[in-house]
Amino acid sequence: MIIAIDGPAAAGKGTLARQLAEHLNLAYLDTGLIYRAVGKKVIGAGGMPEDAKTSEAAAHALSSDDLAADGLRTDEVAAAASKVSAVPGVRAALLDFQRDFAACPPEGKTGAVLDGRDIGTVVCPGADHKLFVTASIDVRAQRRVKELQDRGLEAIYARVFEDMEERDARDQQRTSSPLEPARDAHTLDTTDLNVEQVFKAALEFIRSSKA
Ligand code: DC
Repeated sequence: MIIAIDGPAAAGKGTLARQLAEHLNLAYLDTGLIYRAVGKKVIGAGGMPEDAKTSEAAAHALSSDDLAADGLRTDEVAAAASKVSAVPGVRAALLDFQRDFAACPPEGKTGAVLDGRDIGTVVCPGADHKLFVTASIDVRAQRRVKELQDRGLEAIYARVFEDMEERDARDQQRTSSPLEPARDAHTLDTTDLNVEQVFKAALEFIRSSKA
C-alpha cells in the first residue's frame, strides 16, 4: 500500500504521515528532508541555492550523512530547500531514490507513506491513497511559531508568516512539479482540527476508499 500525502508547510502532513505509517505498519519517507539536506549542503558550502549547477551537484552528491545532519529543521534551511527544489535537475536527481523507497520499502514493510509536495502528482501518481493536507496560513504560521518555541528557538509571528507566504508562493509557482493537489487527491483541511481529529479523518478516508 502506498499513501501519498502532499500539502504546504505546517499543515500537519508530517505528523499525520508518521502516525499512519506506525498504525498501518508502513515505512515512512519525509521527502522534504531530502530537499532540506540538499539546501543545507549548498548554503553550508557558501553556495547560492538558486544556482542550478551548484544545487544539482549537491543533489547528485547527497549521502546518508547529509540526511542525518543536524539543523535540517531550521527556517533558514527550509528557505534554501524551497529554492533548490525549484531547480528541475535537483528534482530529477532525487526522483529515483523516492520511487525506489516506495517500490521497495525498507525493513520488509509491505508499503510506504511518503509526504511532500509532489508525491501524488509526480513521485507516486499510482498511489493507492492520496491526501492533500492543508490549513489556513494563519493557523500554519501559529503552529510553526509554537513548534519553534517548543524547541527553545526565538520565533516572531509576523516573520514566520511572511517566510511561509514566500515559501508557499515559490513552491506553488515553480514550473517543475509545483505544489498542487493531484486530481484524485482527497483534501483534508486541518485548520480547525487537532492532531487526533486529523488522524481519524485520514484513517476514515483510507478505509472508505480501500480498493
Ligand atoms: O516539507 P518541508 O517543509 O520539509 O519541505 C521543505 C521544502 O522542500 C519545501 O518548501 C519544498 C521542497 N519540497 C519539494 O519541493 N518537494 C517535496 N516532495 C518535498 C519538499
